[in-house]
Amino acid sequence: MTTLDSYDFSGKKALVRVDFNVPLNEKFEITDDTRIRATIPTISKILNDGGSVILMSHLGRPKDGPTEKYSLKHLVNPLSLILGKTVKFADDCIGASATELASALQPGEVLLLENLRFYKEEEKGDEAFAEKLSKLGDVWVMDAFGTAHRAHASTAVIGKFFSDKVCGYVMQAELDNAERLLEHSERPFTAIMGGAKISDKILIIERLLDKVDNLIIGGGMSYTFSKAQGGSIGKSLLEADKQDLTLELIEKAKAKGINLVLPVDTVIADKFSNDAERKVVPAGQIPDEWEGLDIGPETAKIFSDIIKNSKTVLWNGPMGVFEFPNFAQGTNAIAEAVVAVTEENDAFSLIGGGDSASAINNAGYGDRVSYVSTGGGALLEYMEGKVLPGVAALQA
Ligand code: 3PG
Ligand code: MG
Repeated sequence: MTTLDSYDFSGKKALVRVDFNVPLNEKFEITDDTRIRATIPTISKILNDGGSVILMSHLGRPKDGPTEKYSLKHLVNPLSLILGKTVKFADDCIGASATELASALQPGEVLLLENLRFYKEEEKGDEAFAEKLSKLGDVWVMDAFGTAHRAHASTAVIGKFFSDKVCGYVMQAELDNAERLLEHSERPFTAIMGGAKISDKILIIERLLDKVDNLIIGGGMSYTFSKAQGGSIGKSLLEADKQDLTLELIEKAKAKGINLVLPVDTVIADKFSNDAERKVVPAGQIPDEWEGLDIGPETAKIFSDIIKNSKTVLWNGPMGVFEFPNFAQGTNAIAEAVVAVTEENDAFSLIGGGDSASAINNAGYGDRVSYVSTGGGALLEYMEGKVLPGVAALQA
């Protein structure tokens, strides 16, 4: 793969695929700009070389063409502020406006194109659409790690229309950090898996069983483990058809000598709300009309002690409904333990994208861990050992 550092962008128009799929509130304000900030070094390198930058991205999953809610115009001002430079905007990603603005672009200038997914051809990986996009730039830079698991027109198919294809700094850092974690980890290696569904995480959990010393399971998925072992879980999240699988995982971990750790207590609620009545009960003893929304204090302590004795930590998925402040203690305790082991035990800590990345950023700890991934599904698929189409396109 051609690295960004090895390529001279002087006089070139770089067509850069970024993942600006960021959360917006009802006023179209960005609530987490991590993915935008992450791309600034890539953009700056190209501009400092004497090149110009044409940014392309998707936002959300628009179904019927152009939609106000999913317009990338909402990102123009915030991006200009972060970059310290006025960003131009084309209200279409192909066609006359994109072509004219791209061809008039001068070295040092930045142009953002409208949402690629306003064309269904993007997600279909349509070749003619990819070719039209490719005409806008001289070199393709792939920096959208968060979307690299999609074989879309702009993330993969477009590669065949360029002889110059460059791996951006975000992509590079994501691949390097995932490799460091999976292939060069210092022991003890602890993985903390949380989030709602086992079905989303089963492949990665199985792969991790060959890598880790400790596998901590918390969050919504832990109730299926509890139920399968004969526990009462009330109205907590359950994937009924995955109960046998959890028992198999417990057996596999035992056979491999891995310390699989499940919650011993649970914070329960009488309704799914921040103002619900709260109680702490032993795991597997949840009354019928109640549901588990966080790990309990004893569990948080056990998990934290294991984390603090590690040299490598992977954290993917929250321990509870951390969006409700009254049920965020477990997730925050894990965040604190990950920060402590990074700073005090010189451990390498990687936070998986999606909800755990938001949790660590919301807690203000984003820059006190080794690495926060910008990928959700993409990181999981990469760690499962899958070849990501966006990576393959750079290697072709
Ligand atoms: C994401 O946030 O998961 C990426 O931007 C990819 O978006 P998608 O899941 O809609 O393809
Ligand atoms: Mg996704």
